[in-house]
Amino acid sequence: MYIVAINGSPNAKGNTALMLRVALEEITAAGGEGHFMQVSDLMTKSKVPYCVACSNPCEGNCFRNTALEEAYNLLRRCDGIIMGSPVYFCTVSAPLKAFWDKTRFLRKDKALLNVVGGALAVGASRFGGQETTLRSMQDMMFCQGMTVVGDGFIDYDSGHLGACAQRPVEDDRDGLIRTRILARRVLEVAQATAGLRAHRTQGK
Ligand SMILES: Cc1cc2nc3c(=O)[nH]c(=O)nc-3n(C[C@H](O)[C@H](O)[C@H](O)COP(=O)(O)O)c2cc1C
Repeated sequence: MYIVAINGSPNAKGNTALMLRVALEEITAAGGEGHFMQVSDLMTKSKVPYCVACSNPCEGNCFRNTALEEAYNLLRRCDGIIMGSPVYFCTVSAPLKAFWDKTRFLRKDKALLNVVGGALAVGASRFGGQETTLRSMQDMMFCQGMTVVGDGFIDYDSGHLGACAQRPVEDDRDGLIRTRILARRVLEVAQATAGLRAHRTQGK
């Protein structure tokens, strides 16, 4: 199982990154393969920083032969995505939104249909909009036909929306525990639903 951790924070070594690294640690410990994706690096190098709806349907012209296209090609073959964002005014960061808008190119191929998705968020405040940020990410994933899961796992409890934490995340024990549970959940559902992604290799 190949799981991509998407870091929506412009800070590659910040709180969101730490949560995603912990999630990937859990994925690899359970036998999965993980990849960390720093979207701000991709978006700042992009000649068109956000979708301007230049073609209908999207032809992917703005990222052809770039690192961003390579990143989208990784998503085309992944089994699961753990999407992380810092809370920015109770929603996702701008680079994450810009990155995801351009996945419109993948949508017509149903490239993310049945890919399993989980979300995690970290804010400066204890109750600073982590859950609304999770919901924004989940909505973004639903629109690609992804199978969105929360942080429930048989060895723990039924969970809630995903993993929420307060900065500094290394001091947020519960936030890190929920991150590990979320990772387990994404992996187990990805394993159980592998057959639902067969359309990607069958050219459907
Ligand atoms: C533009 C901006 C908006 C923010 N809005 C919120 C907010 O609404 N609620 C909150 O709790 N923290 C907010 N924060 C704080 C970040 O969510 C917090 O610092 C987070 O831990 C950063 O994660 P990072 O270290 O991965 O970049 C905001 C920070 C920035 C830069």
